[in-house]
Amino acid sequence: MTRVFVALDVPDPAAAEAWMRRLAPHRHFKVGLELFLAAGPDRVARWAGEGIHLFLDLKFHDIPNTVAAAVRQARRLGARLVTVHAAGGPGMIRAAVDAAEGALAVVAVTVLTSLDAPALRAMGLPPADRWAEQLARTAVEAGAHGLVTSGEEVAALARAWPAVRRVVPGIRPAGSAADDQARAVTPATAVRRGATDLVVGRPVLRAADPAAALAQILAEAGAPADRPPTPEPASGAESAQEAREGAPGPDTDR
Ligand code: C5P
Repeated sequence: MTRVFVALDVPDPAAAEAWMRRLAPHRHFKVGLELFLAAGPDRVARWAGEGIHLFLDLKFHDIPNTVAAAVRQARRLGARLVTVHAAGGPGMIRAAVDAAEGALAVVAVTVLTSLDAPALRAMGLPPADRWAEQLARTAVEAGAHGLVTSGEEVAALARAWPAVRRVVPGIRPAGSAADDQARAVTPATAVRRGATDLVVGRPVLRAADPAAALAQILAEAGAPADRPPTPEPASGAESAQEAREGAPGPDTDR
């Protein structure tokens, strides 16, 4: 089942909470470095506790022991997905996956889209497509639950590793501004090519009617609209709705 995460790329927690209210009952949100540093972990944990389906995009990249410890903290905050850099290597990815203990999905970022051919050459690295493929293979073989990929490469990844989650940012509904996304695809195209999760920021946050824009993206992606969270038992067990939804692949993003 496709999921759409709205990227809360805003500089303060009050603004993030205003978006959560405005887009309710949508509950799938991505928190990146800026908002995480502005809001602090306690505030972010509160959101997860209130039923937000938290994609913590902090792109960990360090020695295995340190990344494993960070993943345990992300898990403690209630994150459902966490990103790591595949370039951290198989040992680091394996340590992250072990630390997740199936409670959250470890998603590997391959080559940052900001790295162009001259930048990769200057670092002594192969061209982007080859390097991305090598990193993706490394990540999957080390047990990563998912990969971040562009809408152009997602089809090849879906063919190679159908059981691994494919997270696609750079989504632009037909007719909307591309912003700085050079290789944007529409929600329908991304899903048709094999995306399992979409990440969308500005097309919602900068829309004249954000809730309507999100509804249109969900419809185009064939993604179910979220329902308000049902109160969870103190044990932290999945809500009845989440238990029913299920999810493909080796992840717990239910
Ligand atoms: O506003 P927009 O829809 O472009 O936001 C996309 C989100 O996905 C941002 O949070 C951005 O950091 C993230 N992202 C991306 N391209 C990548 C990886 C992540 O745009 N290659």
